[in-house]
Amino acid sequence: MMDSINVLDKTFVKFIPEAEIDAAVQRVADQINEDYKDDDAVLLVTLNGAIVFAVDLLKRLNIKCKISCVKLSSYSGTQSTNNVKNLIGLNDDLHGKRVIIVEDIIDTGRTYQHLVDMLKPMGLKDLRIATMTYKPDAYKLDLPIHYFGFSIPNKFVIGRGLDYDGYGRNLNDIYQLKID
Ligand code: IMP
Ligand code: MG
Repeated sequence: MMDSINVLDKTFVKFIPEAEIDAAVQRVADQINEDYKDDDAVLLVTLNGAIVFAVDLLKRLNIKCKISCVKLSSYSGTQSTNNVKNLIGLNDDLHGKRVIIVEDIIDTGRTYQHLVDMLKPMGLKDLRIATMTYKPDAYKLDLPIHYFGFSIPNKFVIGRGLDYDGYGRNLNDIYQLKID
């Protein structure tokens, strides 16, 4: 029997168990600890979805780092929309900083592109991205994805910060939308 849950009007089935996600977060943290051991970093967390991954990651980082948050919005229900909105802007000065964008998921890449365009004029030392999950079949950009936990099929997922209309972020496993 497959684990399944209902969120609002939809059914989701368990896709990535908690222990595998924890191991993937540890792997990403190990890479960042190695790559930034001689430098400090700013983790730029995209609210709301990335908060869970960001906390999990932070607890495993032993480098000198700060966090900063932005809130963007591109999704409505289970569909990505074309325009990315800035709901909470950036307040910190990132000039000369090594910035790592922290994302829950990269889908089409529109949010990532939007962030790159926003950060480019700010004179960062360098910019990378760490995402818990990404969907290679939906991703439309040439921008590199430096650190990722999982590459996943182009299906809607929830859990570990990822939501369906705001719900499901507190699930410790990742669930995939059931198509029947
Ligand atoms: P992108 O701009 O198309 O890359 O979409 C990125 C944003 O859309 C993510 O930060 C999520 O908020 C949301 N998103 C994309 N795919 C999913 C999904 O499968 N589940 C939940 N949210 C998603
Ligand atoms: Mg997001």
